[in-house]
Amino acid sequence: MGRHSEAQPEQRPAETWDQFYSESTRIWSGNPNSALVSQVAELSPGTALELGCGEGADAIWLAERGWQVTGIDVSGVALERAAEHALSAGVAESTDWERHDLALWQPSRSYDLVTALFLHSMIDFPREPILRAAAAAVAPGGSLLVVGHESFPPWSEHRPDASDFPPAENVAEALGLAGAGWRVHTASVPGRVATGPEGQAAQLTDSVLLARRPA
Ligand SMILES: C[S@@+](CC[C@H](N)C(=O)[O-])C[C@H]1O[C@@H](n2cnc3c(N)ncnc32)[C@H](O)[C@@H]1O
Repeated sequence: MGRHSEAQPEQRPAETWDQFYSESTRIWSGNPNSALVSQVAELSPGTALELGCGEGADAIWLAERGWQVTGIDVSGVALERAAEHALSAGVAESTDWERHDLALWQPSRSYDLVTALFLHSMIDFPREPILRAAAAAVAPGGSLLVVGHESFPPWSEHRPDASDFPPAENVAEALGLAGAGWRVHTASVPGRVATGPEGQAAQLTDSVLLARRPA
């Protein structure tokens, strides 16, 4: 997802994303993102913050593994579903859902794990400052996981700006992680073959950044 390159009337994130989620009773699969599963499986559970949690699948997966999770999203429609799914999964007690526009948000406490999984928007969105705030929310010895699209389907009606989809090493550099003593692991994962509306196939690459803050 990315912003359209042509001029748009001002779009508010809450309305835009509520409308997006209202188009169907369920938008995402309900399965956790594979990069979350592979990167976090070895970490000891603690407190976690999931930014742009959508319908809650990743936060719920973490809660099922013993994490105490706070999910933040700008869409109240998505958060209502996330809370319902958490209840059905039996992890309501280990999950909290907060509605914030991350463009205006600053962390008020720290967490053992902070995740931002495909935190992209179809409207203007200050992703890098948000990721900076995400890094600031990681407790000493804690981890930051940022997973994003690195490529976009050629048939998409969205015309994303390439800077909206940076490789993980660019994200790490922009956040100044290595210079601040973080242990940084980055990867580009050509994970998925997507099929377009006319049956055309394209290999899509995701960028994965996992970084550990010094204790
Ligand atoms: C592409 S979806 C990804 C959802 C989920 N993380 C996943 O991987 O399935 C992006 C999410 O970010 C949320 N989002 C977009 N802009 C936001 C903002 N300004 N503040 C908070 N959440 C936002 C959207 O509501 C949406 O749930």
